[in-house]
Amino acid sequence: MLQQVMRVSWRGVSPLIKWPEPVAEVRTLDQMPGPSAVRFVWDLLANRGLSRLHELQLDGRRRFGSMWKASFGPVLTVHVAEPELIEQVLRQEGHTPMRSDISSWKDYRKHRGHGYGLLTSEGEEWQKVRSLLSKHMLRPKSVEAYDSTLNTVVTDLITKLQLHTQQDRHGVVSDIAAEFYRFGLEGISSVLFESRIGCLDAVVPVETERFIQSINTMFVMTLLTMAMPAWLHRLFPKPWRTFCQCWDYMFQFAKGHIDQRLKEEEEKLVRGEEVEGRYLTYFLSRAGMPMKSVYSNVTELLLAGVDTISSTLSWSLYELSRHPEIQRSLRSEIMEVLGDRRIPTAADVASMPLLKAVIKEITRLYPVIPANARVITDRNITVGGYIIPKKTLITLCHYATSRDPAQFSNPNSFFPQRWLSRDEGNHPYSSLPFGVGKRSCIGRRIAELELYLALSRILLHFDVKPDPSGRVVRPMTRTLLVPDREINLQFIKR
Ligand code: HEM
Repeated sequence: MLQQVMRVSWRGVSPLIKWPEPVAEVRTLDQMPGPSAVRFVWDLLANRGLSRLHELQLDGRRRFGSMWKASFGPVLTVHVAEPELIEQVLRQEGHTPMRSDISSWKDYRKHRGHGYGLLTSEGEEWQKVRSLLSKHMLRPKSVEAYDSTLNTVVTDLITKLQLHTQQDRHGVVSDIAAEFYRFGLEGISSVLFESRIGCLDAVVPVETERFIQSINTMFVMTLLTMAMPAWLHRLFPKPWRTFCQCWDYMFQFAKGHIDQRLKEEEEKLVRGEEVEGRYLTYFLSRAGMPMKSVYSNVTELLLAGVDTISSTLSWSLYELSRHPEIQRSLRSEIMEVLGDRRIPTAADVASMPLLKAVIKEITRLYPVIPANARVITDRNITVGGYIIPKKTLITLCHYATSRDPAQFSNPNSFFPQRWLSRDEGNHPYSSLPFGVGKRSCIGRRIAELELYLALSRILLHFDVKPDPSGRVVRPMTRTLLVPDREINLQFIKR
């Protein structure tokens, strides 16, 4: 205080003397607030916290402010829950950013001697595959080329929905997420293999159901296996064993499809036919990449394309069914752009701002990845005035920022129009459903295209109404953010 008074009076006396700016205090992790280890373990394991991890972000921010530390099992992690601070972390992430170096996904690959895919590889290995795939997955022109392939998958989805509606007197389709899992898997397979694998056939192949089930169980087991220190795996082996079995099946499923596809190509060559492909497995296998990496990359891309699409599409229809006026406006927008046509293309979507706003709003409210992470391995960084030592796991609390009333008015309401004007003035890092920067979602453009094509066609064919029982569905964490119960909706044929 005395210092401040003196500084003010000195300045008053002699404006020519330049007083040094006060140096902001830099604090260490010891000074960072956070729950006690006992309280955190209680919240996580005894209080169903693993499925409420997204809500714990809101709790954490209420109790400790925009940064706090907590121990997730054996791992100390710093939580960051303010857009400005998330930006500070991501701007210091370096050339080959790392999401997390303590991961049961990586442990599994090491354990079984498998290769790493884009989700799990690091450094130069990651950089090489990323540059190759970016050309085919992020360039707008390359992605637009997938629209007719994806549209054939959407056509099958519409047929399947029509069949479902005929089976119920009120046209109620139960558990729409289950149908959208199959749609997601068929969609990403069509992009990866340029051939169909039958997920939307009247009788779904058993291996498809088993693959989807393996993804679900693997996600449930992911957080549990990470929260348990290695010695606990020996004492309670079931979670780790189940986790490995799921991955084994996923790798086997992907390998089966890749080998089959490449065999078809070899046979064509033998017959002297021309072989050319526009599908991702083809690009990967032609790039001289070891087959081990092709298998792991395709497994991870298949996995990444299922729950993400299913949850986002399910939530979109759930919210639109509860907001009929927005559903009507969106349908009008689609019909206006299409005129006499019934099948939109990637180019049409460019003229549908409300459609894009709906997906932006859904991914703000229900970000599939509610918390992302970064580890800066080579140097300490400063974030929000704290020194974060290198190799610390930093958790980016996207769910908390995207539901922050300081960023979005009525943050828990579905209001896509907020994205059509600039009035909200939210920070650009407040809603980052696909991440940002070098390590952001490589499937973003394909996912968006798939969602736009599916949503617009569904609305052209059906009026979507809420479950007549009026059940409210909330999000829950299962590594990803998913609906906590079945979403049932009424599809009225138009
Ligand atoms: C609504 C749909 C989706 C959402 C919200 C989503 C979200 C995300 C997020 C948040 C990340 C982490 C980004 C980061 O760490 O900064 C990510 C990474 C990734 N996503 Fe997606 N994703 C979606 C769909 C897809 C699809 C369809 C694919 C496959 C075609 C895919 C493939 C990947 C891959 C391979 C990565 C890892 C990228 C890397 O580490 O370089 N995603 N996604």
